Amino acid sequence: MIRIAPSLLSADFSDLRGELQSMKEAGADLLHIDVMDGHFVPNLSYGAPVVTHLSAHTDIPFDVHLMVTNPGDYIQPFAQIGTRMLSFHYEAPVHHDRLIHAVQDAGMQSGIVLNPGTPISVLHDVLSVVDYVLLMSVNPGFGGQSYIPYVTDKIARLAACRQERGLTFQIEVDGGVTTANADEIRQAGADILVAGSAVFRSDDRKATIEKLRGK
Ligand code: DX5
Ligand code: ZN
Repeated sequence: MIRIAPSLLSADFSDLRGELQSMKEAGADLLHIDVMDGHFVPNLSYGAPVVTHLSAHTDIPFDVHLMVTNPGDYIQPFAQIGTRMLSFHYEAPVHHDRLIHAVQDAGMQSGIVLNPGTPISVLHDVLSVVDYVLLMSVNPGFGGQSYIPYVTDKIARLAACRQERGLTFQIEVDGGVTTANADEIRQAGADILVAGSAVFRSDDRKATIEKLRGK
């Protein structure tokens, strides 16, 4: 089953409550929350205090993507607000195995994220313990960038590796996903598609989500 996770980064920040309602009506499966610290990536977005307020106004599960240098500091605050999925970057200076388990022990699904230029081979060992892998298909930090074409091959190789080893992690793809490239991304083996500008800048958000899903 393919799930669509609109990225709130492209929402109208002056009306976040309205945007949450719009996502509910449009049938979003997850809400992708991009947390940026202005250090790991050259941009700032929002953190747990803002997201805590949002959680009171929606029942769509949160898929939190930490683009921060110290992801360990964010585990408890996001667990406390009932976050469903929490991912951190492989490129952050952390003990990967320790953090994956800390996220799971806090009651969340644990994801590890790769920047476009980081090869999937570095995940060989942790693939057996993570709940999902998020492959970035743009360089992180900003919405509205173009999909990097070589990521499709990374998705396909990761999906093949999952099958060969009989593993069950999900594959999420984030960055530049549109109704024009969603078919190839799904066919390569992605389970969760993040889409920011494609959904929020669309005139018919429900129809766009259905198209991204392949319906
Ligand atoms: C980029 C973020 C993405 C971004 C996606 O750093 O991780 O989630 O918001 O936005 P679009 O779909 O517009 O590329
Ligand atoms: Zn993201």
